[in-house]
Amino acid sequence: MEISERAAQLTPSLTLSIDSKAKAMKAEGIDVCGFGAGEPDFDTPEHIKKAAIDALEAGFTKYTPSAGIPELRQAIAEKLAADNGLSYRSAQVIVSNGAKHSCYNAILATCQPGDEVIIPSPYWVSYPDMVRLAGAEPVIVPTSERISWQMRAEDFENAMTLTPRTKMLIMNSPGNPTGSVYTSEELQAIVEVAAEEDIYILSDEIYEKLVYDHLKHVSIASLSKEAYDLTITINGFSKSYAMTGWRLGYLAAPEAVAKAVDSIQSHTTSNPSSFSQYGALAALKGDQQPLADMREEFDMRRNYMFDRISKISNVTAVKPQGAFYVLVNISQLGLSSQNFADRLLSKANVAVVPGAAFGDDRTIRLSYATSLDVIKKGLDRFQDFCRTL
Ligand SMILES: Cc1ncc(COP(=O)(O)O)c(C=O)c1O
Repeated sequence: MEISERAAQLTPSLTLSIDSKAKAMKAEGIDVCGFGAGEPDFDTPEHIKKAAIDALEAGFTKYTPSAGIPELRQAIAEKLAADNGLSYRSAQVIVSNGAKHSCYNAILATCQPGDEVIIPSPYWVSYPDMVRLAGAEPVIVPTSERISWQMRAEDFENAMTLTPRTKMLIMNSPGNPTGSVYTSEELQAIVEVAAEEDIYILSDEIYEKLVYDHLKHVSIASLSKEAYDLTITINGFSKSYAMTGWRLGYLAAPEAVAKAVDSIQSHTTSNPSSFSQYGALAALKGDQQPLADMREEFDMRRNYMFDRISKISNVTAVKPQGAFYVLVNISQLGLSSQNFADRLLSKANVAVVPGAAFGDDRTIRLSYATSLDVIKKGLDRFQDFCRTL
């Protein structure tokens, strides 16, 4: 059987080979220090689990409206107003099976063959393939450590001059894998460029609750009326509330886009899991202390990991201001990121994600969503390994 061109063009996952090798080593009893995790190592808070259990017991086991239960859409609209200064009606909010699903729905609803989508790199691994699946073309704008891995407005403007068919820009602040957080001034400058040509902005804000150093997360759509009209805001429950397995994310957008996303979803996946939605409702309405505790623990690990890495010769890093990753520049060591990651795993039993997966072969990504003990042991090994190169 032949597979479609659409499927054939997808890039094979670079993270998978390291991940499966690390798992096989663990199964053999080898003590592997894993820095690959893309999810919080904390359990979902109890009151959220209880709300889902109660929902199951109350018989909420059936289809819900495709775009989500009205109470949850309303609670999300209220959250966006209270936390992000955004005024969306619940009809503009669509709940999906994770923020990943919301991103894909948003791209499918707005982009088509011939369109180009600008993605600053290093980027979250799935964006370019989502764009390709929609028949559009990803246009990568490289950033560098020197500018804290952030795309400046002038880089965006230059990219647009080269690509006259630009339809959308994908922004991700706080960023995975960079940990960088854009300020409101930086975002405003980017919005001004986008507004000149009516370029849509997909703003993936999934890590919004994980920002450090007293910084404040800024939602692009809150910057101005122009920004609001051009932006699709994406968020979800996976990272903030340690709910990755629940598969719940959402988008908020101008009404026409929300309607289109609702139609796409109604013909593809239908509603996200009914009882997960009740858990998400409890997450938004309930105690926010578990979230603050998680953030504090991540912050402590971030400081530890960054301090250790900044003392290792021939590797460099920018201190991340958000999310739970440190992006390490290994280019002085003369190995490709895949080769480095393979050797680090087989020689030192440390698993990291090669930056090639994020469009930047000069780097590797270390996640601190693991215990401080593993971080300490893994960094000892990492340091010794770097000395051997
Ligand atoms: C930047 C970014 N966006 C979206 C997602 C997907 O989140 P979800 O679990 O809600 O699909 C991730 C998960 O790693 C991510 O890092």
